[in-house]
Amino acid sequence: MNYENILIEKDNEISIITINRPTKLNALNKATIEELHHAFDTEDKDKSTRVIIITGSGEKAFVAGADISEFAHFSVEEGGKLAAQGQKLLFDFVENLSTPVIAAVNGFALGGGLELAMSAHFRIASDNAKMGLPEVTLGVIPGYGGTQRLPQLVGKGRAMEMIMSASMIDSETAKNYGLVNHVVPQVKLLEFTKGIASKIAKNSPVAISNAITAVNANYKDGINGYEIEIKNFGKSFGTADFKEGTTAFLEKRKADFKGE
Ligand code: COA
Repeated sequence: MNYENILIEKDNEISIITINRPTKLNALNKATIEELHHAFDTEDKDKSTRVIIITGSGEKAFVAGADISEFAHFSVEEGGKLAAQGQKLLFDFVENLSTPVIAAVNGFALGGGLELAMSAHFRIASDNAKMGLPEVTLGVIPGYGGTQRLPQLVGKGRAMEMIMSASMIDSETAKNYGLVNHVVPQVKLLEFTKGIASKIAKNSPVAISNAITAVNANYKDGINGYEIEIKNFGKSFGTADFKEGTTAFLEKRKADFKGE
């Protein structure tokens, strides 16, 4: 696939996907969502990619939301389809990816932008970042999982206030809320995020993927997360990574995981 709206860069086992529509503050139009789906899918299948970082180009925005110009004239059916398609192709897809995804939030993360950051497995923000779900100012509600993931991350009361008031919070507030794990100067954002990604990349990809499934199970209807944990814990014992990890420990050397 030829990408027109995103860039992909490899740094050893880390892949950096950059949304690249800076003149539109990286707003998510249909084409960008499709390209992101393809890129995440491709990187996930590539065994040499151990961690994916998602970020935005320019110094101003991570993503300033869904592309308003694309849906301003939509009907009820088209609106529903937009949310359903987007959730399937990108937001649920990223959340359930086997490969860890870190959002490096480098500026405005609004609407679909914050929803994308929240779909990532965790978030790191630059000190100039601003986050919010301003959909109600447009007469619509968050449609890419925001009403579900924001309360999971910050608690119901804070989520209700953010959604109803449409106010943006700064990165320090986001850190206090537990929405982002770290706040760093903008110039250091990528380097800092890559530092954490490198640590993750040294660990067993199979175990990490099983851990992602188990953690996510807590937020899925009709699924008992403890049972998924027991199942995935048991499964680990049949993997080459487990043999390598335990053998390396006993031999007092660093494990060299193959992700099998
Ligand atoms: N959809 C489509 N285009 C968008 C966009 C979006 N969500 N967010 C920004 N843009 C475009 C602007 O239309 C403008 O394009 P233009 O130069 O062709 O007119 C360009 O990006 C720059 O944005 P601008 O508004 O001029 O920048 P600003 O610094 O004055 O304001 C924001 C920055 C983020 C506060 C403002 O762009 C904004 O409120 N964006 C919409 C946020 C939103 O409601 N998102 C939720 C969507 S569901």
